[in-house]
Formats: sequence, structure tokens, C-alpha cells
Amino acid sequence: MPPTARLRDGRELPLIGLGVWEIPDGEPTIDAVRWSLEAGYRHIDTARLYANERSVGEGVRRSGIPREEVWITTKLRPADFPRAERALARSVRELGFEYVDLYLVHWPVPGTVKRTWKAMERLCESGIARTIGVSNYSPAQLRAVLDVASIPPAVNQVKFSPFGFDETNLEFCARHEIVVEAYSPLTRGRRLADARVGELAARYERSPAQVLLRWALQKGTVVLPKSANRERIAENIAVFEFELSPADMQALDALNAQPHRALEARIPRRRANQDPGAGAAREE
Ligand SMILES: NC(=O)c1ccc[n+]([C@@H]2O[C@H](COP(=O)([O-])OP(=O)(O)OC[C@H]3O[C@@H](n4cnc5c(N)ncnc54)[C@H](OP(=O)(O)O)[C@@H]3O)[C@@H](O)[C@H]2O)c1
Repeated sequence: MPPTARLRDGRELPLIGLGVWEIPDGEPTIDAVRWSLEAGYRHIDTARLYANERSVGEGVRRSGIPREEVWITTKLRPADFPRAERALARSVRELGFEYVDLYLVHWPVPGTVKRTWKAMERLCESGIARTIGVSNYSPAQLRAVLDVASIPPAVNQVKFSPFGFDETNLEFCARHEIVVEAYSPLTRGRRLADARVGELAARYERSPAQVLLRWALQKGTVVLPKSANRERIAENIAVFEFELSPADMQALDALNAQPHRALEARIPRRRANQDPGAGAAREE
């Protein structure tokens, strides 16, 4: 089984999870979830916006692995901020489970950050969300949450690869016992042919995807690679038996094109009431 990160509430979060964004609902998601569990994953990352929670639950059931052995994350979309309780009840019903392991605020909307967090705390107290956290939050937004929190966020899920990561955010989270989850750790496939990554992959006798995932793990994050392909799902979890040298870690760090990306700057472009399809298409 993959190693875990200990969260501030004492729960153990598996260091790798299967991302299922853009895997169609129905058999493709059911198969991907089943294959991942067969390959040893015990963590699935979905969202209301991905419109495949039902199939995530079905994949877990068909795998035969007990529900309590699988970490399930889903997310509260901004359109549901005013009725978080109903939104989580719906997600849980779709999944066919009694609770989710981790419920995340999908992204921050200015003016709602504190109120939304209070609603998240009530969901955590009710036990339907065992752990709560956020996604796409900058240090300033995390600070705003921490200022009002009686249950601090355990996780911040952010875009994270050698080609784009925010070291300041990583440091802030480490200082505040917030585990960082790396989304789009494979650059959505776009930079897997990069020559510098390829050179490292050849030297370590690993694939470019494995090099990127290993880098993110050694940065201290939990990785969420998406694949709908059985072989690639298995390939992506085979990242716990090798280690990148400090010099190679630095070489990958140096690829960062967006060291201090101001997340706040792009948030107003997202409307709180967008429909799920539009939200999913613009999720990045
Ligand atoms: N919180 C947020 O706002 C947010 C935003 C984006 C993503 N996420 C989460 O993070 C997850 C992962 O991010 P992502 O879906 O954007 O992209 P990603 O994991 O960076 O990349 C996925 C792409 O890489 C390909 N791929 C996977 N493994 C590969 C391998 N070993 N070799 C070659 N190609 C490979 C996949 O194709 P195949 O499927 O054909 O293998 C797919 O095209 C999402 O599914 C979602 O759960 C969260």
C-alpha cells in the first residue's frame, strides 16, 4: 500500500490518489477507479464539478475493497457555497457512501472565504466530511481562513509541477500544518516530452511521468495524477522505489516558470454561479 501523510487531525492521507477530472461518467470512471484500486491506490480525487461521483462510488464497490479502506475526496463548487450542507448530502448520495474522507472548497471566491469556511466546519462536526480543506488558496486566503477557523484546513490542493509551483505557498502550508496536494502533477500531459525531463527519465530508467511525480513527492506534496488508461495508472503508482538526487531536484525546481503566481488575480474571472460544465472546462 502507498505511504501516507499524517494530517493535523491525525488521519492518514495516502500520498498518491487517482484524479478523475474529465474521465467520463459511467464505465470509463468505474474502470479507472477499479484498476487503480487493483494497482494499489487507496485514494480517489473527484468533485461535484467532474460529474462522475456516482461512478467513483460504483468503482469502489465493484473492486470489492471495503469502503473504509479507500480515501475519497470530493469538492464543494462555488455555485453551492450558500447551501453547502445540501451539496455535500448530494455528493454523498451520488457516491453511495455515508461520508467523504475529505471535502474541499473547490476554489475561493472573494467575499465568501470566511463564511464558506464556517459552513465547512459544520459539515466536519456532523461527521459527513471526516476532514475538511481548501483548493486553489493563496497564503493570503489561507490566512483569512485561519483567522476565523476553529477547525483549521488540513489540506490545500493546488496546481503543482516543476513547470509551475508556488514555493511561498508550500512554505506557508508547512508552517501551518496544512498538507499540500499537487493537482495536474503531470502538466495535463503537456510537458511530458520536455527534453530535460526526458534526460532525467532516461538516466533513472523511469518514465517522464514518474520523474514528475517523484519530484512532487520529494517536495512534500501528495500527488493526484489522472489517467484513464490501465497501464499508465499502474505506471504512475510505481514511484516509491526510487529517489531523485538533490542536484536533480534542483534542476527540476529551476524549470518553474511561475514562482509566485498570484492566485487571487485570476479569481474574479470565475463566477460563483457558473454551470458545472463551464466550471469543469475552466477548472485550471
Ligand atoms: N482542485 C482543482 O481545481 C483541480 C484542478 C485540476 C485538476 N485537479 C485534480 O488533479 C487531477 C490530475 O490533474 P489533471 O487531470 O489536470 O492532469 P494530470 O494528472 O497532470 O495529467 C493527466 C494527463 O496525463 C496523461 N497521463 C497520465 N499518466 C500518464 C503517463 N504515465 N504517461 C503519459 N501520459 C500520462 C493522461 O492521459 P490518459 O488518461 O490517457 O493516461 C492525461 O492526459 C485531476 O484529475 C483532478 O482530480 C484538481
